[in-house]
Amino acid sequence: MTRVDFYRHQLGEDEAREWRKVLDTTFLTLGPQVGTFERELGAYLIRGRESAEAPRVVGTSSCSMGLLLALRAHDVGPGDEIITTPMTFAATANAILHLGAAPVFVDVEPDTGLIDPNAVRAAIGPKTKGLMPVHLYGQLADMRALRALADRHHLFIVEDSAHGIEIERDGIRPGELGDAAVFSFYATKNLTCGDGGAIATKHAHIADRLVRLRNHGVSKSAADRHGGQYQHWDLIELGYKANLTDLDASLLRVQLSKSEAKREQREQIARYYEAHLLEAVPALSSLSGCGVPGLIARRGRSSHHLFTLHAPLGQRDALLSHLGEHGIGTAVNYRAIHLLTYLQERLHLSRGTFPIAEEIGDRTISIPMFPTLEHSEADRVVDVVASGWNGR
Ligand SMILES: Cc1ncc(COP(=O)(O)O)c(C=O)c1O
Repeated sequence: MTRVDFYRHQLGEDEAREWRKVLDTTFLTLGPQVGTFERELGAYLIRGRESAEAPRVVGTSSCSMGLLLALRAHDVGPGDEIITTPMTFAATANAILHLGAAPVFVDVEPDTGLIDPNAVRAAIGPKTKGLMPVHLYGQLADMRALRALADRHHLFIVEDSAHGIEIERDGIRPGELGDAAVFSFYATKNLTCGDGGAIATKHAHIADRLVRLRNHGVSKSAADRHGGQYQHWDLIELGYKANLTDLDASLLRVQLSKSEAKREQREQIARYYEAHLLEAVPALSSLSGCGVPGLIARRGRSSHHLFTLHAPLGQRDALLSHLGEHGIGTAVNYRAIHLLTYLQERLHLSRGTFPIAEEIGDRTISIPMFPTLEHSEADRVVDVVASGWNGR
């Protein structure tokens, strides 16, 4: 049986070479590689726009910690409400809860799974302090609509951009309209160092605070303290240990230089899947009662982090098993998180509150997606989906 993995990372000799060079340096952790990667990612985010000012980028140990730091940098705390989406990974809501604030979920758009700006508008209240959209699967949420709402109600926006740095929609990129955008370099992400993250912000005062918050809240990093003459440092506020390391940054720098080419490969695979799946399973082109299509609608330039399809209601888990039995790697991104035990109990939410996110959560399957996926492998995935779907 030919196995098709859900994900295969792309790190090879180029990355290993740069990583080995860092081993010859003194500072394996927060040092010059991190600083260079931060500047390069900032430049990448404004690529092709000569007159634009690059955002400041702050490397973190993960996107989860980056989300938390970005909220802290906006002084989120007890009594505050942050509006977000239940169609995401638990980390999005956890960051809010860790600071003693309350996540206020709203439903998503049926055709994309992205947070619905109309639902956001309806949920804004006196305690709302900020918005946390998620650029699900690698498509930008409707940032123009969300920025207009945020401006009207004096809210900040922290974008959960775990699913990509390559995203663009209506000429808008992560971190451009939001006050901060947070990226993930977790093991399965488009850029990876196993675990890592970064925050991009156009506000210098937020960036300065993030630099301190990721490093315990102290006034100087270890590299600053020991680079030349010893300098005393002070503890300015209560921070976290949540920095990126030089070893990891060296891996990310090499991948960043290849990211446009890799995104193009993902785009080709997405198009191949779309065409062949629709041919093999024509039912994928129909809409369900809630208006959820078999394949998500395209919005702008996707990072194509994940390729998802929506099985018929009640048949998702059987299709997952069928794919697993035939050696096809799968994931579920995501079961709507307001129904996960802890969040359901803590926030007193029940099934039926967000019908669209719940339907997507009950139907969604992610199939293998990575730049080197061969056509023969994609064909096999499509064949197995079709045989499972049609009950063969
Ligand atoms: C939407 C979303 N947000 C946040 C995270 C957390 O990222 P990390 O694992 O880098 O902390 C993930 C990771 O899978 C994610 O998919």
